[in-house]
Amino acid sequence: MSKREQWSSKTGFILAAAGSAVGLGNIWKFPYIAGENGGAAFLFIYLICILAIGLPILNIEILLGRETQKNPVGAFKKIHGDSNWKYVGALGVFASFTILSFYSIVGGWSVAYTVEALKGTFASFPDPEVAGEFFNLKNSNPYWVLGYHTLFFLSIIGIILSGVKGGLEKASKFLMPILLFILFALVVNGLMLPDSDKGMEFLFSPDWSKINPSTFLLALGHAFFTLSLGMGAMMTYGSYLSDNDDIVNASYMVAFLDTIIAILAGVAIFTVVFSSGYDPTAGPGLVFHVLPPLLSQLPGGYIFAFLFFLLLTIAAVTSGISILEVSVAYLVDELKFSRKKATMIMGVLVYLAAIPCALSFNLLSDVTLPIQGKAFTFFDVADFLASNILLPLGGFFLAIFAGYVWGIDSTVKALLKGDSGSLYFGNSILESPTSKMIFGFLIKYLSPVLIFLVFLYQFGWI
Ligand code: PFF
Repeated sequence: MSKREQWSSKTGFILAAAGSAVGLGNIWKFPYIAGENGGAAFLFIYLICILAIGLPILNIEILLGRETQKNPVGAFKKIHGDSNWKYVGALGVFASFTILSFYSIVGGWSVAYTVEALKGTFASFPDPEVAGEFFNLKNSNPYWVLGYHTLFFLSIIGIILSGVKGGLEKASKFLMPILLFILFALVVNGLMLPDSDKGMEFLFSPDWSKINPSTFLLALGHAFFTLSLGMGAMMTYGSYLSDNDDIVNASYMVAFLDTIIAILAGVAIFTVVFSSGYDPTAGPGLVFHVLPPLLSQLPGGYIFAFLFFLLLTIAAVTSGISILEVSVAYLVDELKFSRKKATMIMGVLVYLAAIPCALSFNLLSDVTLPIQGKAFTFFDVADFLASNILLPLGGFFLAIFAGYVWGIDSTVKALLKGDSGSLYFGNSILESPTSKMIFGFLIKYLSPVLIFLVFLYQFGWI
């Protein structure tokens, strides 16, 4: 049997994991959720969720992968035999289908808008209303949506086919610095605009009256989504690490990069929105309706609009590969398929699963399911199911597994294996009895209880 591939370096892993975390969640979702939920007030709750729940679970996910050198199903089997725990892994594989089915549609839009920006289309939009009509018109054509979805999908498949080092790692090492560079350019541009301070104020001065239990629900769901937790993506990436790698440091780095990039994306977007006097609460259309005309009306707008959508595309690609890799690794490990065969099979299956989401904006727009009092299309259902149910559920079981089945002692011992005593905080942070106790508390009590409460609230049971 061929040896399991590994990352070529620690930086390679961190960039790939950060590439998975930094995605549409940071640039498309975070700003509009923050916009709709009170800006800084949401940011505050979100940061708590990342620190208290996201970060510990991120450590555990990567660890389970590294310890077992397996995909999510195989990982649970290896540690706990052929028990029901393997279904938690299977839930992850199912979630990877669900997420990618709507994610690749938004990825396709990003590619399409990069092309439109290059063509200079946005310069002719006088305001967001016209841009919104353009968006709806384009989406009413199923071939347009499916065509760009296909392009996006092919780029993901191409990268996955090239393997862990030659594909996942190389793409992330190449694309992540570009992403950071573009984001900086957009932030600097945004800060220099008149009235940019209003955007900053919106993002950084909290209005506590906006906080209610549903803010918490959203923030927690989004913390899972943005850190790629709860479906085994980080586990799968962790499975390409060796025992010498320092998971605690890597997790800090990934969570830090992910958070800072979401905040910077917020700065880049809200400075533009406020300086043009528009409403920050535009919802999912913020990026595709509001930004194109506003960006292209700025000095140098042609280039900024292009850069923005390129940024979105890069973010979507480096996350998309990690989502598909979960299913591919499953077939490679469990059914002993070659990477090529596994990628082709899963690629086709996930591609087909995404078609109803692509048609949600045209042929199937009337096919809806009532959820929480709203009519949800296939696209909305996939997003809701993944972010509000599957990922938090996966996170819940991970916390229970590490806290009660594997036990905090074994978990911490395993985490400390790769202590490099290095760079940032060092794994040694977990060696002190107090921090181990806090870690245990977060994993055994706080995370499961909060996730459980969020579920009860979501279904209207409390
Ligand atoms: N973290 C990605 C984002 O913020 O866009 C989305 C994601 C990737 C979710 C991988 C889950 C996952 F396994």
